[in-house]
Amino acid sequence: MEFKNILLAIENKIAVVTINRPDKLNAINDATLTELEKCFSFLKNNDEVNVVIVTGTGEKAFVAGADINELNGLNVKSGKIFSEKGQKVFSMIETLEKPVIAAINGLALGGGCELALACHIRLASDKAKFGQPEIHLGIIPGYGGTQRLTRLINSGRSAELILSGELIDAAEALRIGLVNKVYPHSELMNKAKELAVKISSKGQVAVKLALQSILSCNEMTFKEGFKTEAESFGKCCGTEDSKEGIKAFFEKRKPNFKNR
Ligand code: COA
Repeated sequence: MEFKNILLAIENKIAVVTINRPDKLNAINDATLTELEKCFSFLKNNDEVNVVIVTGTGEKAFVAGADINELNGLNVKSGKIFSEKGQKVFSMIETLEKPVIAAINGLALGGGCELALACHIRLASDKAKFGQPEIHLGIIPGYGGTQRLTRLINSGRSAELILSGELIDAAEALRIGLVNKVYPHSELMNKAKELAVKISSKGQVAVKLALQSILSCNEMTFKEGFKTEAESFGKCCGTEDSKEGIKAFFEKRKPNFKNR
């Protein structure tokens, strides 16, 4: 599958999606958003892909935001539509039912930070910088940022970032729980691939059900979440992979999952 603004490479069941507009610091315009929608819908239905890594082209930026050229001239109605499209595409990423790892190789600003937030795991280069600078433009994050950032790092920290528009470095992002790990810049992609391979070697029914159960926190009460967890746990117990995993434990060997 070929795109103009993103690159897609699939190898050993790992897909790498690279936002590829280096002359615009990988800012996401409408065409890129449409391509992301097509790409993630293709990845969802592709049995050759277990795990996805999202990153940006070049040394400087992961994604420097939504394309500001396309913000110019928006009104109340078109602004809402603009926001809803980004929300929809980023929610597709979050609900892919396959793990998505953000390999944040540089600036993750505005829509870029929101893209990272829509991924399930965030790994950052020590050169990465994060922020929601929309307030400088007189607007607010519109691709899910006010919701996902607040749930992830708490309302006080989210308010500080969104209201000040200030950028933070990778160490601070790690300290406040915005990213899982920070690596030296040159090691980031290898580390992301290592983690992807590790997850890809597990029973994928369990991986999918675990992700579903984790995400159910966003929509369900504690009680409903427990119910979902128990149902998913039961489904896992009915798989050949769970028999193999437990057998391998007793036989003191690595399990050989077949994804059934
Ligand atoms: N939308 C559209 N174009 C963008 C962009 C964005 N979000 N971010 C960067 N670019 C473009 C610049 O306009 C410039 O294009 P040009 O060469 O045609 O003029 C190019 O990318 C390089 O950026 P530049 O500003 O020259 O790099 P810099 O190192 O001096 O500054 C930033 C980097 C990130 C500080 C600066 O580009 C910036 O503030 N970008 C906007 C960030 C933002 O507000 N994001 C949220 C948007 S809602």
